[in-house]
Amino acid sequence: MNKIILGIFFVLMNLSFSLKANEKVATAKPIEIEVYRSPTCGCCGKWIEHLKDKQFVVKDIVIDDVQVIKDKYGVPIEMASCHTALVDGYVVEGHVPAADIMKMINNKPKVIGISVPGMPVGTPGMDMGGRQDPYQVVSFDKEKNFKVVKSYKGKK
Ligand code: CU
Ligand code: CU
Repeated sequence: MNKIILGIFFVLMNLSFSLKANEKVATAKPIEIEVYRSPTCGCCGKWIEHLKDKQFVVKDIVIDDVQVIKDKYGVPIEMASCHTALVDGYVVEGHVPAADIMKMINNKPKVIGISVPGMPVGTPGMDMGGRQDPYQVVSFDKEKNFKVVKSYKGKK
């Protein structure tokens, strides 16, 4: 008899634990990101699709001169790419993989943001038949300290 009661107790414990786990997933708020891009940028649209695939909520803002935004939010020329995005108080410049954005949001480094400078082939949104040039995700701050936070190997 005691064993049965103990058994029921454990089942209930597990149930309440798994309910709590589900609750956590359900209340995790989606990550909102604002993307500034020019009306003619095709690869920008593809990068936005990549973010949406990774559960980001994207505000797509089309402007004629993206340089204005880069200057406003402190993207140095060395870090520049096609689009500029704002997420959780950080700047994301260029074709940065969603995973690296998530890592920055979680680690909260003291930087302005991260970039994949230029537009390397094989980055998210720059797919060219599976080809991938080696590229790096670089963080930058006000003093123009550049730090490689992730390196991706090339593949043919
Ligand atoms: Cu691009
Ligand atoms: Cu772009």
